[in-house]
Amino acid sequence: LALVILAASVLAADFGRLEAHAREALDAGADWLHIDVMDGHFVPNISFGAPVMRGLRALADETGTPFDVHLMIEDPDRYLDAFAEAGAATITVHQEACPHLHRTVQAIHALGCRAGVALNPATPLETLEEIAPDLDLVLVMTVNPGFGGQAFIEGSVDKVRRCRHLLDRRRSRAVIEVDGGIAPDNVRRIVEAGAEVVVAGSAVFRGDVAANVTAFRQATAL
Ligand code: DX5
Ligand code: ZN
Repeated sequence: LALVILAASVLAADFGRLEAHAREALDAGADWLHIDVMDGHFVPNISFGAPVMRGLRALADETGTPFDVHLMIEDPDRYLDAFAEAGAATITVHQEACPHLHRTVQAIHALGCRAGVALNPATPLETLEEIAPDLDLVLVMTVNPGFGGQAFIEGSVDKVRRCRHLLDRRRSRAVIEVDGGIAPDNVRRIVEAGAEVVVAGSAVFRGDVAANVTAFRQATAL
């Protein structure tokens, strides 16, 4: 099995001890910190923005951990520079929130970040047909965005497989990321379908963080 990147979603962390909790995940072997930004408009929930991410900056720098920013917000163009400045390595915007997606992707690249596009469960892969060669990452949502702890949508496995084919056919170097309801008991078949970056919130931060991360590693080991 290809090497999988585990992106720990701090949305599920204890915000009262955010840095310490995030550190536990990194110490246990999580690779990226996934930053879920929700505005209460694009999704029916409000989380946090760049100032909270900046609170994790020292930890990220110290450990060499990339910030993986997932913008679930309307008009993300307005905030790209703020997240780049706060240290984003990758900025992912939603296809559904971007009428001028090519322009937005160019703007992310101009800020020196890797560019990702996320698709809601009901959004067809075909919407990526033209932009695919310009992308560094495609985020296939495996729940409807807005909340942690939701049930994985089973049809996503086949969507990931078809996404892999689309990216190959379009000669895109983008990696596939999956997000929502991923746990050690379903991660293997998602990775086998072509996902290379796995986001996990509850399955990392609920309970024993070190044991949780180890369970992910074992589930995706050869
Ligand atoms: C959902 C967010 C996810 C969320 C995943 O809208 O994009 O990143 O934190 O949480 P779990 O892993 O608990 O489903
Ligand atoms: Zn996310």
